[in-house]
Amino acid sequence: MKIVGTVEALSQWRAAGPDDVGFVPTMGGLHEGHLALVAMARARHPLVVASVYVNPLQFGPQEDFGAYPRTEAADAKKLEEAGVDVLFFPSDAEIYPRGRAQQTRVCVPGLSEDLCGRSRPGHFEGVTTVVARLFGLVRPRAAYFGKKDYQQWRLVQRMVADLGLGVEVVGRETVRAADGLAHSTRNQYLGPEARQKASGLYATLKAGAALACSGMAPTEVEKTCHERLGYLGFVPDYVAVRRASDLAVPAPEDQDLVILAAARLETTRLIDNLELSRPLRADGGSLQSPPKPG
Ligand code: PAF
Repeated sequence: MKIVGTVEALSQWRAAGPDDVGFVPTMGGLHEGHLALVAMARARHPLVVASVYVNPLQFGPQEDFGAYPRTEAADAKKLEEAGVDVLFFPSDAEIYPRGRAQQTRVCVPGLSEDLCGRSRPGHFEGVTTVVARLFGLVRPRAAYFGKKDYQQWRLVQRMVADLGLGVEVVGRETVRAADGLAHSTRNQYLGPEARQKASGLYATLKAGAALACSGMAPTEVEKTCHERLGYLGFVPDYVAVRRASDLAVPAPEDQDLVILAAARLETTRLIDNLELSRPLRADGGSLQSPPKPG
């Protein structure tokens, strides 16, 4: 595996390389979820690039930028073993050569301010800005994102469509521990008691999905899950049932939905989600929508 730290070295490699590159952007702290993304890219492209860059632009002033796990040597070893061809491991000066304040920003309006964007202002602008920059440098045919960060995945898809970047933005199913907890770099922050409770987030989403499929109205599902999370010891931020394709509030005829939640356990903020397909009535309405007149 070639380790590249500068934009110039990456550009030189890129200029000589083939068209079909798969890309896995990461912030390091690698776990099984990241390695599953690499495996997917590996199976689909002759060359795989991964990046490790803890992007300061996507952390709020009170967030964990300083404490975020930085495990470069272990990450490089895992990526090499997973078959990555090039690891891009840039400094801040390579990513934001004019400084952060002068960096051209990319923002997806609306969607970036909703759900996680409500409690993390500026977070998604930081994500789309760095991902756009990385896409410009790596010029991948496809890029791989974990569906655990569902809103991020949908935002990057929107950005690519709106800007015509021509990158396929693939979402991979979430990789979970045996008790259902989604793998996340931030799981390392959980103490033993919190780690035990943490599986309650996915269990709550599964219960919520079952209620939505049995015809309960989305707002009722959200309320029920919110209460259940509180009962399990979480401080819920939100539970939302949305249309899977664009995270809009679902219309009665929408079948493919996703239930998303963010909740704190002690000081750790966890997110997770579950896609679901709810049955429609024979007349085309959803089970909870009122019957059509006539
Ligand atoms: O999901 C992440 O690790 C980050 O948000 C990403 C996509 C690498 C951008 O910094």
